[in-house]
Amino acid sequence: MAATRWKKKTMPIIKPQNCLLVIFGASGDLTRRKLVPALFDLYQKKRLPEQFAVLGVSRTQMDDDGFRDKMVEALDAKYPDAKKAVRDFVTCLHYLPLETAKPEDYPRLKQRLEELDRAFQVNGNYIYYLSIAPSMYETIVEGLGSLGLQREVSHDLELKRLIVEKPFGYDLHSALDLNRKLLHNFREPQIYRIDHYLGKETVQNVLVFRFSNGIFEPLWNRNYIDRVEITAAEWEGVGTRGGYYDGAGAMRDMVQNHLLHLLSVIAMEPPSSFDPISVRNEMVKVFHSLRPIPEDAVAEWVVRGQYTKSKVKDEIITGYREEDNVDPFSRTETYTAMKLHIDNWRWGGVPFYIRTGKRLPTRVTEAVIYFKATPHTLFAHDSSGMQAANQLVLRIQPDEGTLLTFGMKRPGAGFQVERVNMNFHYSDLGDAPVPEAYERLLLDCMQGDATLFARGDAVEACWRFIHPVLESWKNDSGVKIYGYPAGSWGPQKARELFGDPEIDWRYPCKNLVDDGLYCEL
Ligand code: BG6
Repeated sequence: MAATRWKKKTMPIIKPQNCLLVIFGASGDLTRRKLVPALFDLYQKKRLPEQFAVLGVSRTQMDDDGFRDKMVEALDAKYPDAKKAVRDFVTCLHYLPLETAKPEDYPRLKQRLEELDRAFQVNGNYIYYLSIAPSMYETIVEGLGSLGLQREVSHDLELKRLIVEKPFGYDLHSALDLNRKLLHNFREPQIYRIDHYLGKETVQNVLVFRFSNGIFEPLWNRNYIDRVEITAAEWEGVGTRGGYYDGAGAMRDMVQNHLLHLLSVIAMEPPSSFDPISVRNEMVKVFHSLRPIPEDAVAEWVVRGQYTKSKVKDEIITGYREEDNVDPFSRTETYTAMKLHIDNWRWGGVPFYIRTGKRLPTRVTEAVIYFKATPHTLFAHDSSGMQAANQLVLRIQPDEGTLLTFGMKRPGAGFQVERVNMNFHYSDLGDAPVPEAYERLLLDCMQGDATLFARGDAVEACWRFIHPVLESWKNDSGVKIYGYPAGSWGPQKARELFGDPEIDWRYPCKNLVDDGLYCEL
């Protein structure tokens, strides 16, 4: 389907208030790879505040120039054609080496903030970004609190905001504890918990798709929808992150946060208005409606797997247990698939299936809405041998877009039904590139809009939901872990979640391996 191109409209740009962005952990990977490029994109689009500066903070000894040089290197590699703009932009970057673990170092931070505040006239507006190990959150928040650096006059006067990166805890207990600690110094409306999936344009588009089109929402319920499937597949393995990942696994790394939030966007009720309170109230209601998984039924509802060594196109792909910093006897899941239910009026009886994994055949994130088939079959079965039930595929990445399948008459004699696609690709809108999640989220935070950030109660509700699964896996109460060859679509056991041999997952592409180790580990 050729997409109608949007006419470019010049919208007035409303700039956020002047502010300072303080990045804790500024010498880390995230600052270089995501945060500073996102700020540069905002700079290029003239979306940054009139007066704006960044203060990078971390233990590494560096001065402003050293920090700028590092960022120039990263930006030049990413934007080779914008050398002049990069050099202009980095003049707003500053740096302070600080032992964040030492309370006695915080007065130096306060002093530097006051200097920058005077130089840039940001009127006491500070945003703190914790891009640092979660074990440091409490110390930093206490350090800021001890000097009153968290105090604001109001939401937009001498504002103080705190951006927190995941993981928000390791389990239910630690998540509750973390929220308590953050709330000791900051109020909930000051806290912006980043779930970068909510920052993805295509995830936001699910809301627009649902709530701005009169034709879909009336069908968006148990009367017309048979089941919903959500997939987040990655080809990459754990790479250099074995140390972190082996203590986390797919359930904590992807399901607890990204996939449950994606689910909430698909399943929520229409909010009364598009503001942070209304939208996030509806998301939380979804989490509260998730049917609890009994600990003794985990094996029935959830499948876990781990990739094993395989050969893809003549290349040997390392198995998970042989990856760096991974326990050779690890039982950490690199794949998980689960069936869940949302017990409310809209979704009663509609199963939702979620799967995610590393070393699957490709990188794809999508949600598939399977509509119910017609109540009575009038025509011959379609070319694939199945009755043409409609499917709506919301493709989050890559090749962002929307695909609707429906039955058409095959030209010629008789009434042969053929399944065809109505396919919209974001790339057809050539002049509207899809912005990166961090760009959107940083701007939203500067504008004081927390709609696309995870709220404390939502985070806790998600941990509460997966708690029985983690407990059961921890106690290893007979719940198996299945091997799957790297490059395959995961353990075959995941198919049994449907409880119907006629039903299978959607496979956006073929397995990259024909055989390999598919067995209990
Ligand atoms: C991160 C996880 O939060 O999300 C990673 O820690 C994962 O393990 C990543 O690879 C996936 O994000 P995206 O945007 O590439 O789908």
